Amino acid sequence: MKNHRWTHNLSLMGLGTTNLWNGPDSRKEEVFLTAIREYGIRVIDTAEMYGRAEEGAAGILEKAGRENIFLIDKILPGNVTEEGFERSLERSLKRLGTDYIDLYLLHWREDADLELLVRKMEAAKQSGKIREWGVSNFDTKDLRDLMKYTDHVFANQVFYSVYERGIEVELLPFMREHGIHPISYSALGSGYISHPNIRDNERVMRLCAKWQVEPEAVLLRRITEEDVLALFSTSSLNHLRQNLSAVPEESIRELFEALDEEFPAPDHKYPLVKI
Ligand SMILES: NC(=O)c1ccc[n+]([C@@H]2O[C@H](COP(=O)([O-])OP(=O)(O)OC[C@H]3O[C@@H](n4cnc5c(N)ncnc54)[C@H](OP(=O)(O)O)[C@@H]3O)[C@@H](O)[C@H]2O)c1
Repeated sequence: MKNHRWTHNLSLMGLGTTNLWNGPDSRKEEVFLTAIREYGIRVIDTAEMYGRAEEGAAGILEKAGRENIFLIDKILPGNVTEEGFERSLERSLKRLGTDYIDLYLLHWREDADLELLVRKMEAAKQSGKIREWGVSNFDTKDLRDLMKYTDHVFANQVFYSVYERGIEVELLPFMREHGIHPISYSALGSGYISHPNIRDNERVMRLCAKWQVEPEAVLLRRITEEDVLALFSTSSLNHLRQNLSAVPEESIRELFEALDEEFPAPDHKYPLVKI
């Protein structure tokens, strides 16, 4: 797999961990290790909120080699307090079995004190416990508010899928203008209330058959073409292989044209959709 054009040498896609370690054990470790070893995936996304996911990620870090992974973790807004921040970070590091997080994000804004957030994130960066920091679920106004206290926000992780393209109107251009790396969560649209299924779309499926490509791989490719890092999750090796299967260059124009017409971007700004 090609790497990202970002400053860091990241894979174009990453694997999420929500819910994966909460149910009965399955072959998820095999899924992650296959993604890393066979497909060159480097990004793993987790959060203190995701139950046992941090402990699960620890096993992957150990087996894949910590240096091979770009690890994203997230702090809850309620823990951004004078004492709470370090406590959360230390607990996460312990559960992850590592001494640093590559990218530490505020999970969502709520009523977090943004000035305190910047101070705490910068101090954690100075201490070497995190390498970069950013936010998640921040709309344009939230970013503007945050940028009163800092001119360096590494990334904003938001819901972005072919099925929900609201960020293309204002937020994505704003992030590009200010050098804030966009990360899309739920890139396959899971959990989105009006989530259609690409496999129900006859036109797209006809083209996928013509070019012998997997529709989920096309959905993800459409996101990464925007230079957005696409996060998806799967507990299935079969789905992993579908999602990471090749989409030949010569098929792109026709497939994207169909996607853009079947799932058009909105023509006006509305509040960021969060799921
Ligand atoms: N920052 C935030 O607020 C936030 C919010 C949500 C998510 N996230 C992050 O983003 C990651 C990805 O998001 P997500 O897990 O919500 O959504 P997603 O990747 O859009 O969808 C995951 C779902 O799609 C299914 N799936 C995957 N590949 C498939 C395929 N080829 N065919 C059919 N079904 C397939 C998976 O089931 P199988 O297991 O059966 O494959 C799973 O149910 C999360 O794990 C989390 O790390 C962040």
